[in-house]
Amino acid sequence: MTVWIEGATGKAGKRVVEALTRAGVPVRAASRHPGEPSGLVTPVRFDWYDERTWAPALGNAKAVFLKGLDSDDDAASIVARFLAEAGAVTRVVLMSAVGVDKTPPGAPRRAVELAVENSGKSWTILRPSWFLQNFDEDEWVFARALREANELYAGSGTSRVGFTDTRDLAEAAARVLTEKGHEGRGYTITGPEQLTFAEMAELLAKTSGRPIHHVDATPEEHREHFAKSGRPEAWVNHMLHLFRLVRAGVFAPVTDDFERLTGKKPRTPREYAEEIWQPQTQS
Ligand SMILES: NC(=O)c1ccc[n+]([C@@H]2O[C@H](COP(=O)([O-])OP(=O)(O)OC[C@H]3O[C@@H](n4cnc5c(N)ncnc54)[C@H](OP(=O)(O)O)[C@@H]3O)[C@@H](O)[C@H]2O)c1
Repeated sequence: MTVWIEGATGKAGKRVVEALTRAGVPVRAASRHPGEPSGLVTPVRFDWYDERTWAPALGNAKAVFLKGLDSDDDAASIVARFLAEAGAVTRVVLMSAVGVDKTPPGAPRRAVELAVENSGKSWTILRPSWFLQNFDEDEWVFARALREANELYAGSGTSRVGFTDTRDLAEAAARVLTEKGHEGRGYTITGPEQLTFAEMAELLAKTSGRPIHHVDATPEEHREHFAKSGRPEAWVNHMLHLFRLVRAGVFAPVTDDFERLTGKKPRTPREYAEEIWQPQTQS
């Protein structure tokens, strides 16, 4: 069975591609900037905002891994239309986020979940916490300020987060995409421990030997910081909303869902830091 993966060049999607191909599953790797085919991977051009790309990108895939659109108020209706047109697709795995199931039906991310749940297809929802890979791979969320100023810039207060390694999210995704028994279920995929951003900064500092420190920005300072990214205002608003949720403790939970799905312990922030933040691997 071929699996179609949306956001296949992103922090989570590229690892879903890796997890599936390691298991011998052919994938269609969808993004606006597809690379060259290799082995079991067929990169395909796909743009949520260009419907002409949808059917050719899907090809013969029967299962899809979706992340939906962020910071777009029409995300749910676009996802619903995409799934309605994807006649051959029978199984949908949506990557949502911790706590979305507890938000009102009209909240943008919950509306995307409901579009999937009401699509008439077999569905499973994965709800990860904040990705550890944001620290080194997401230029504007954290990576640039860490690289250029040793700042873990996060208006988080002292709230805790059960950080998820995207490799764990990917392994969970590969399971639910290829095994039976996950239909109509949601899994909250977190790491094994809750850290504050100050504790995370301390861990990155200790591992890298750099004077990394947490900057507990006010919402106004944070807006100014994100505005320097040149990203659309909707993205900035979305990020500030996510930090409001962090401060409210929404991302604090840790669960054993990953272990129940895979039989493995989730990766710890320390394991991530020791792999990625050694002095010799950071400039
Ligand atoms: N980051 C976190 O901490 C976190 C935590 C929990 C849940 N999530 C969920 O994870 C999702 C983000 O995943 P990620 O962090 O892996 O993404 P990412 O690293 O930001 O990558 C985004 C991916 O989407 C593709 N893309 C961007 N615009 C597109 C468009 N218009 N049409 C089609 N593809 C497009 C990008 O490729 P091209 O640019 O080549 O198109 C890329 O492959 C969000 O939905 C979020 O709710 C994130």
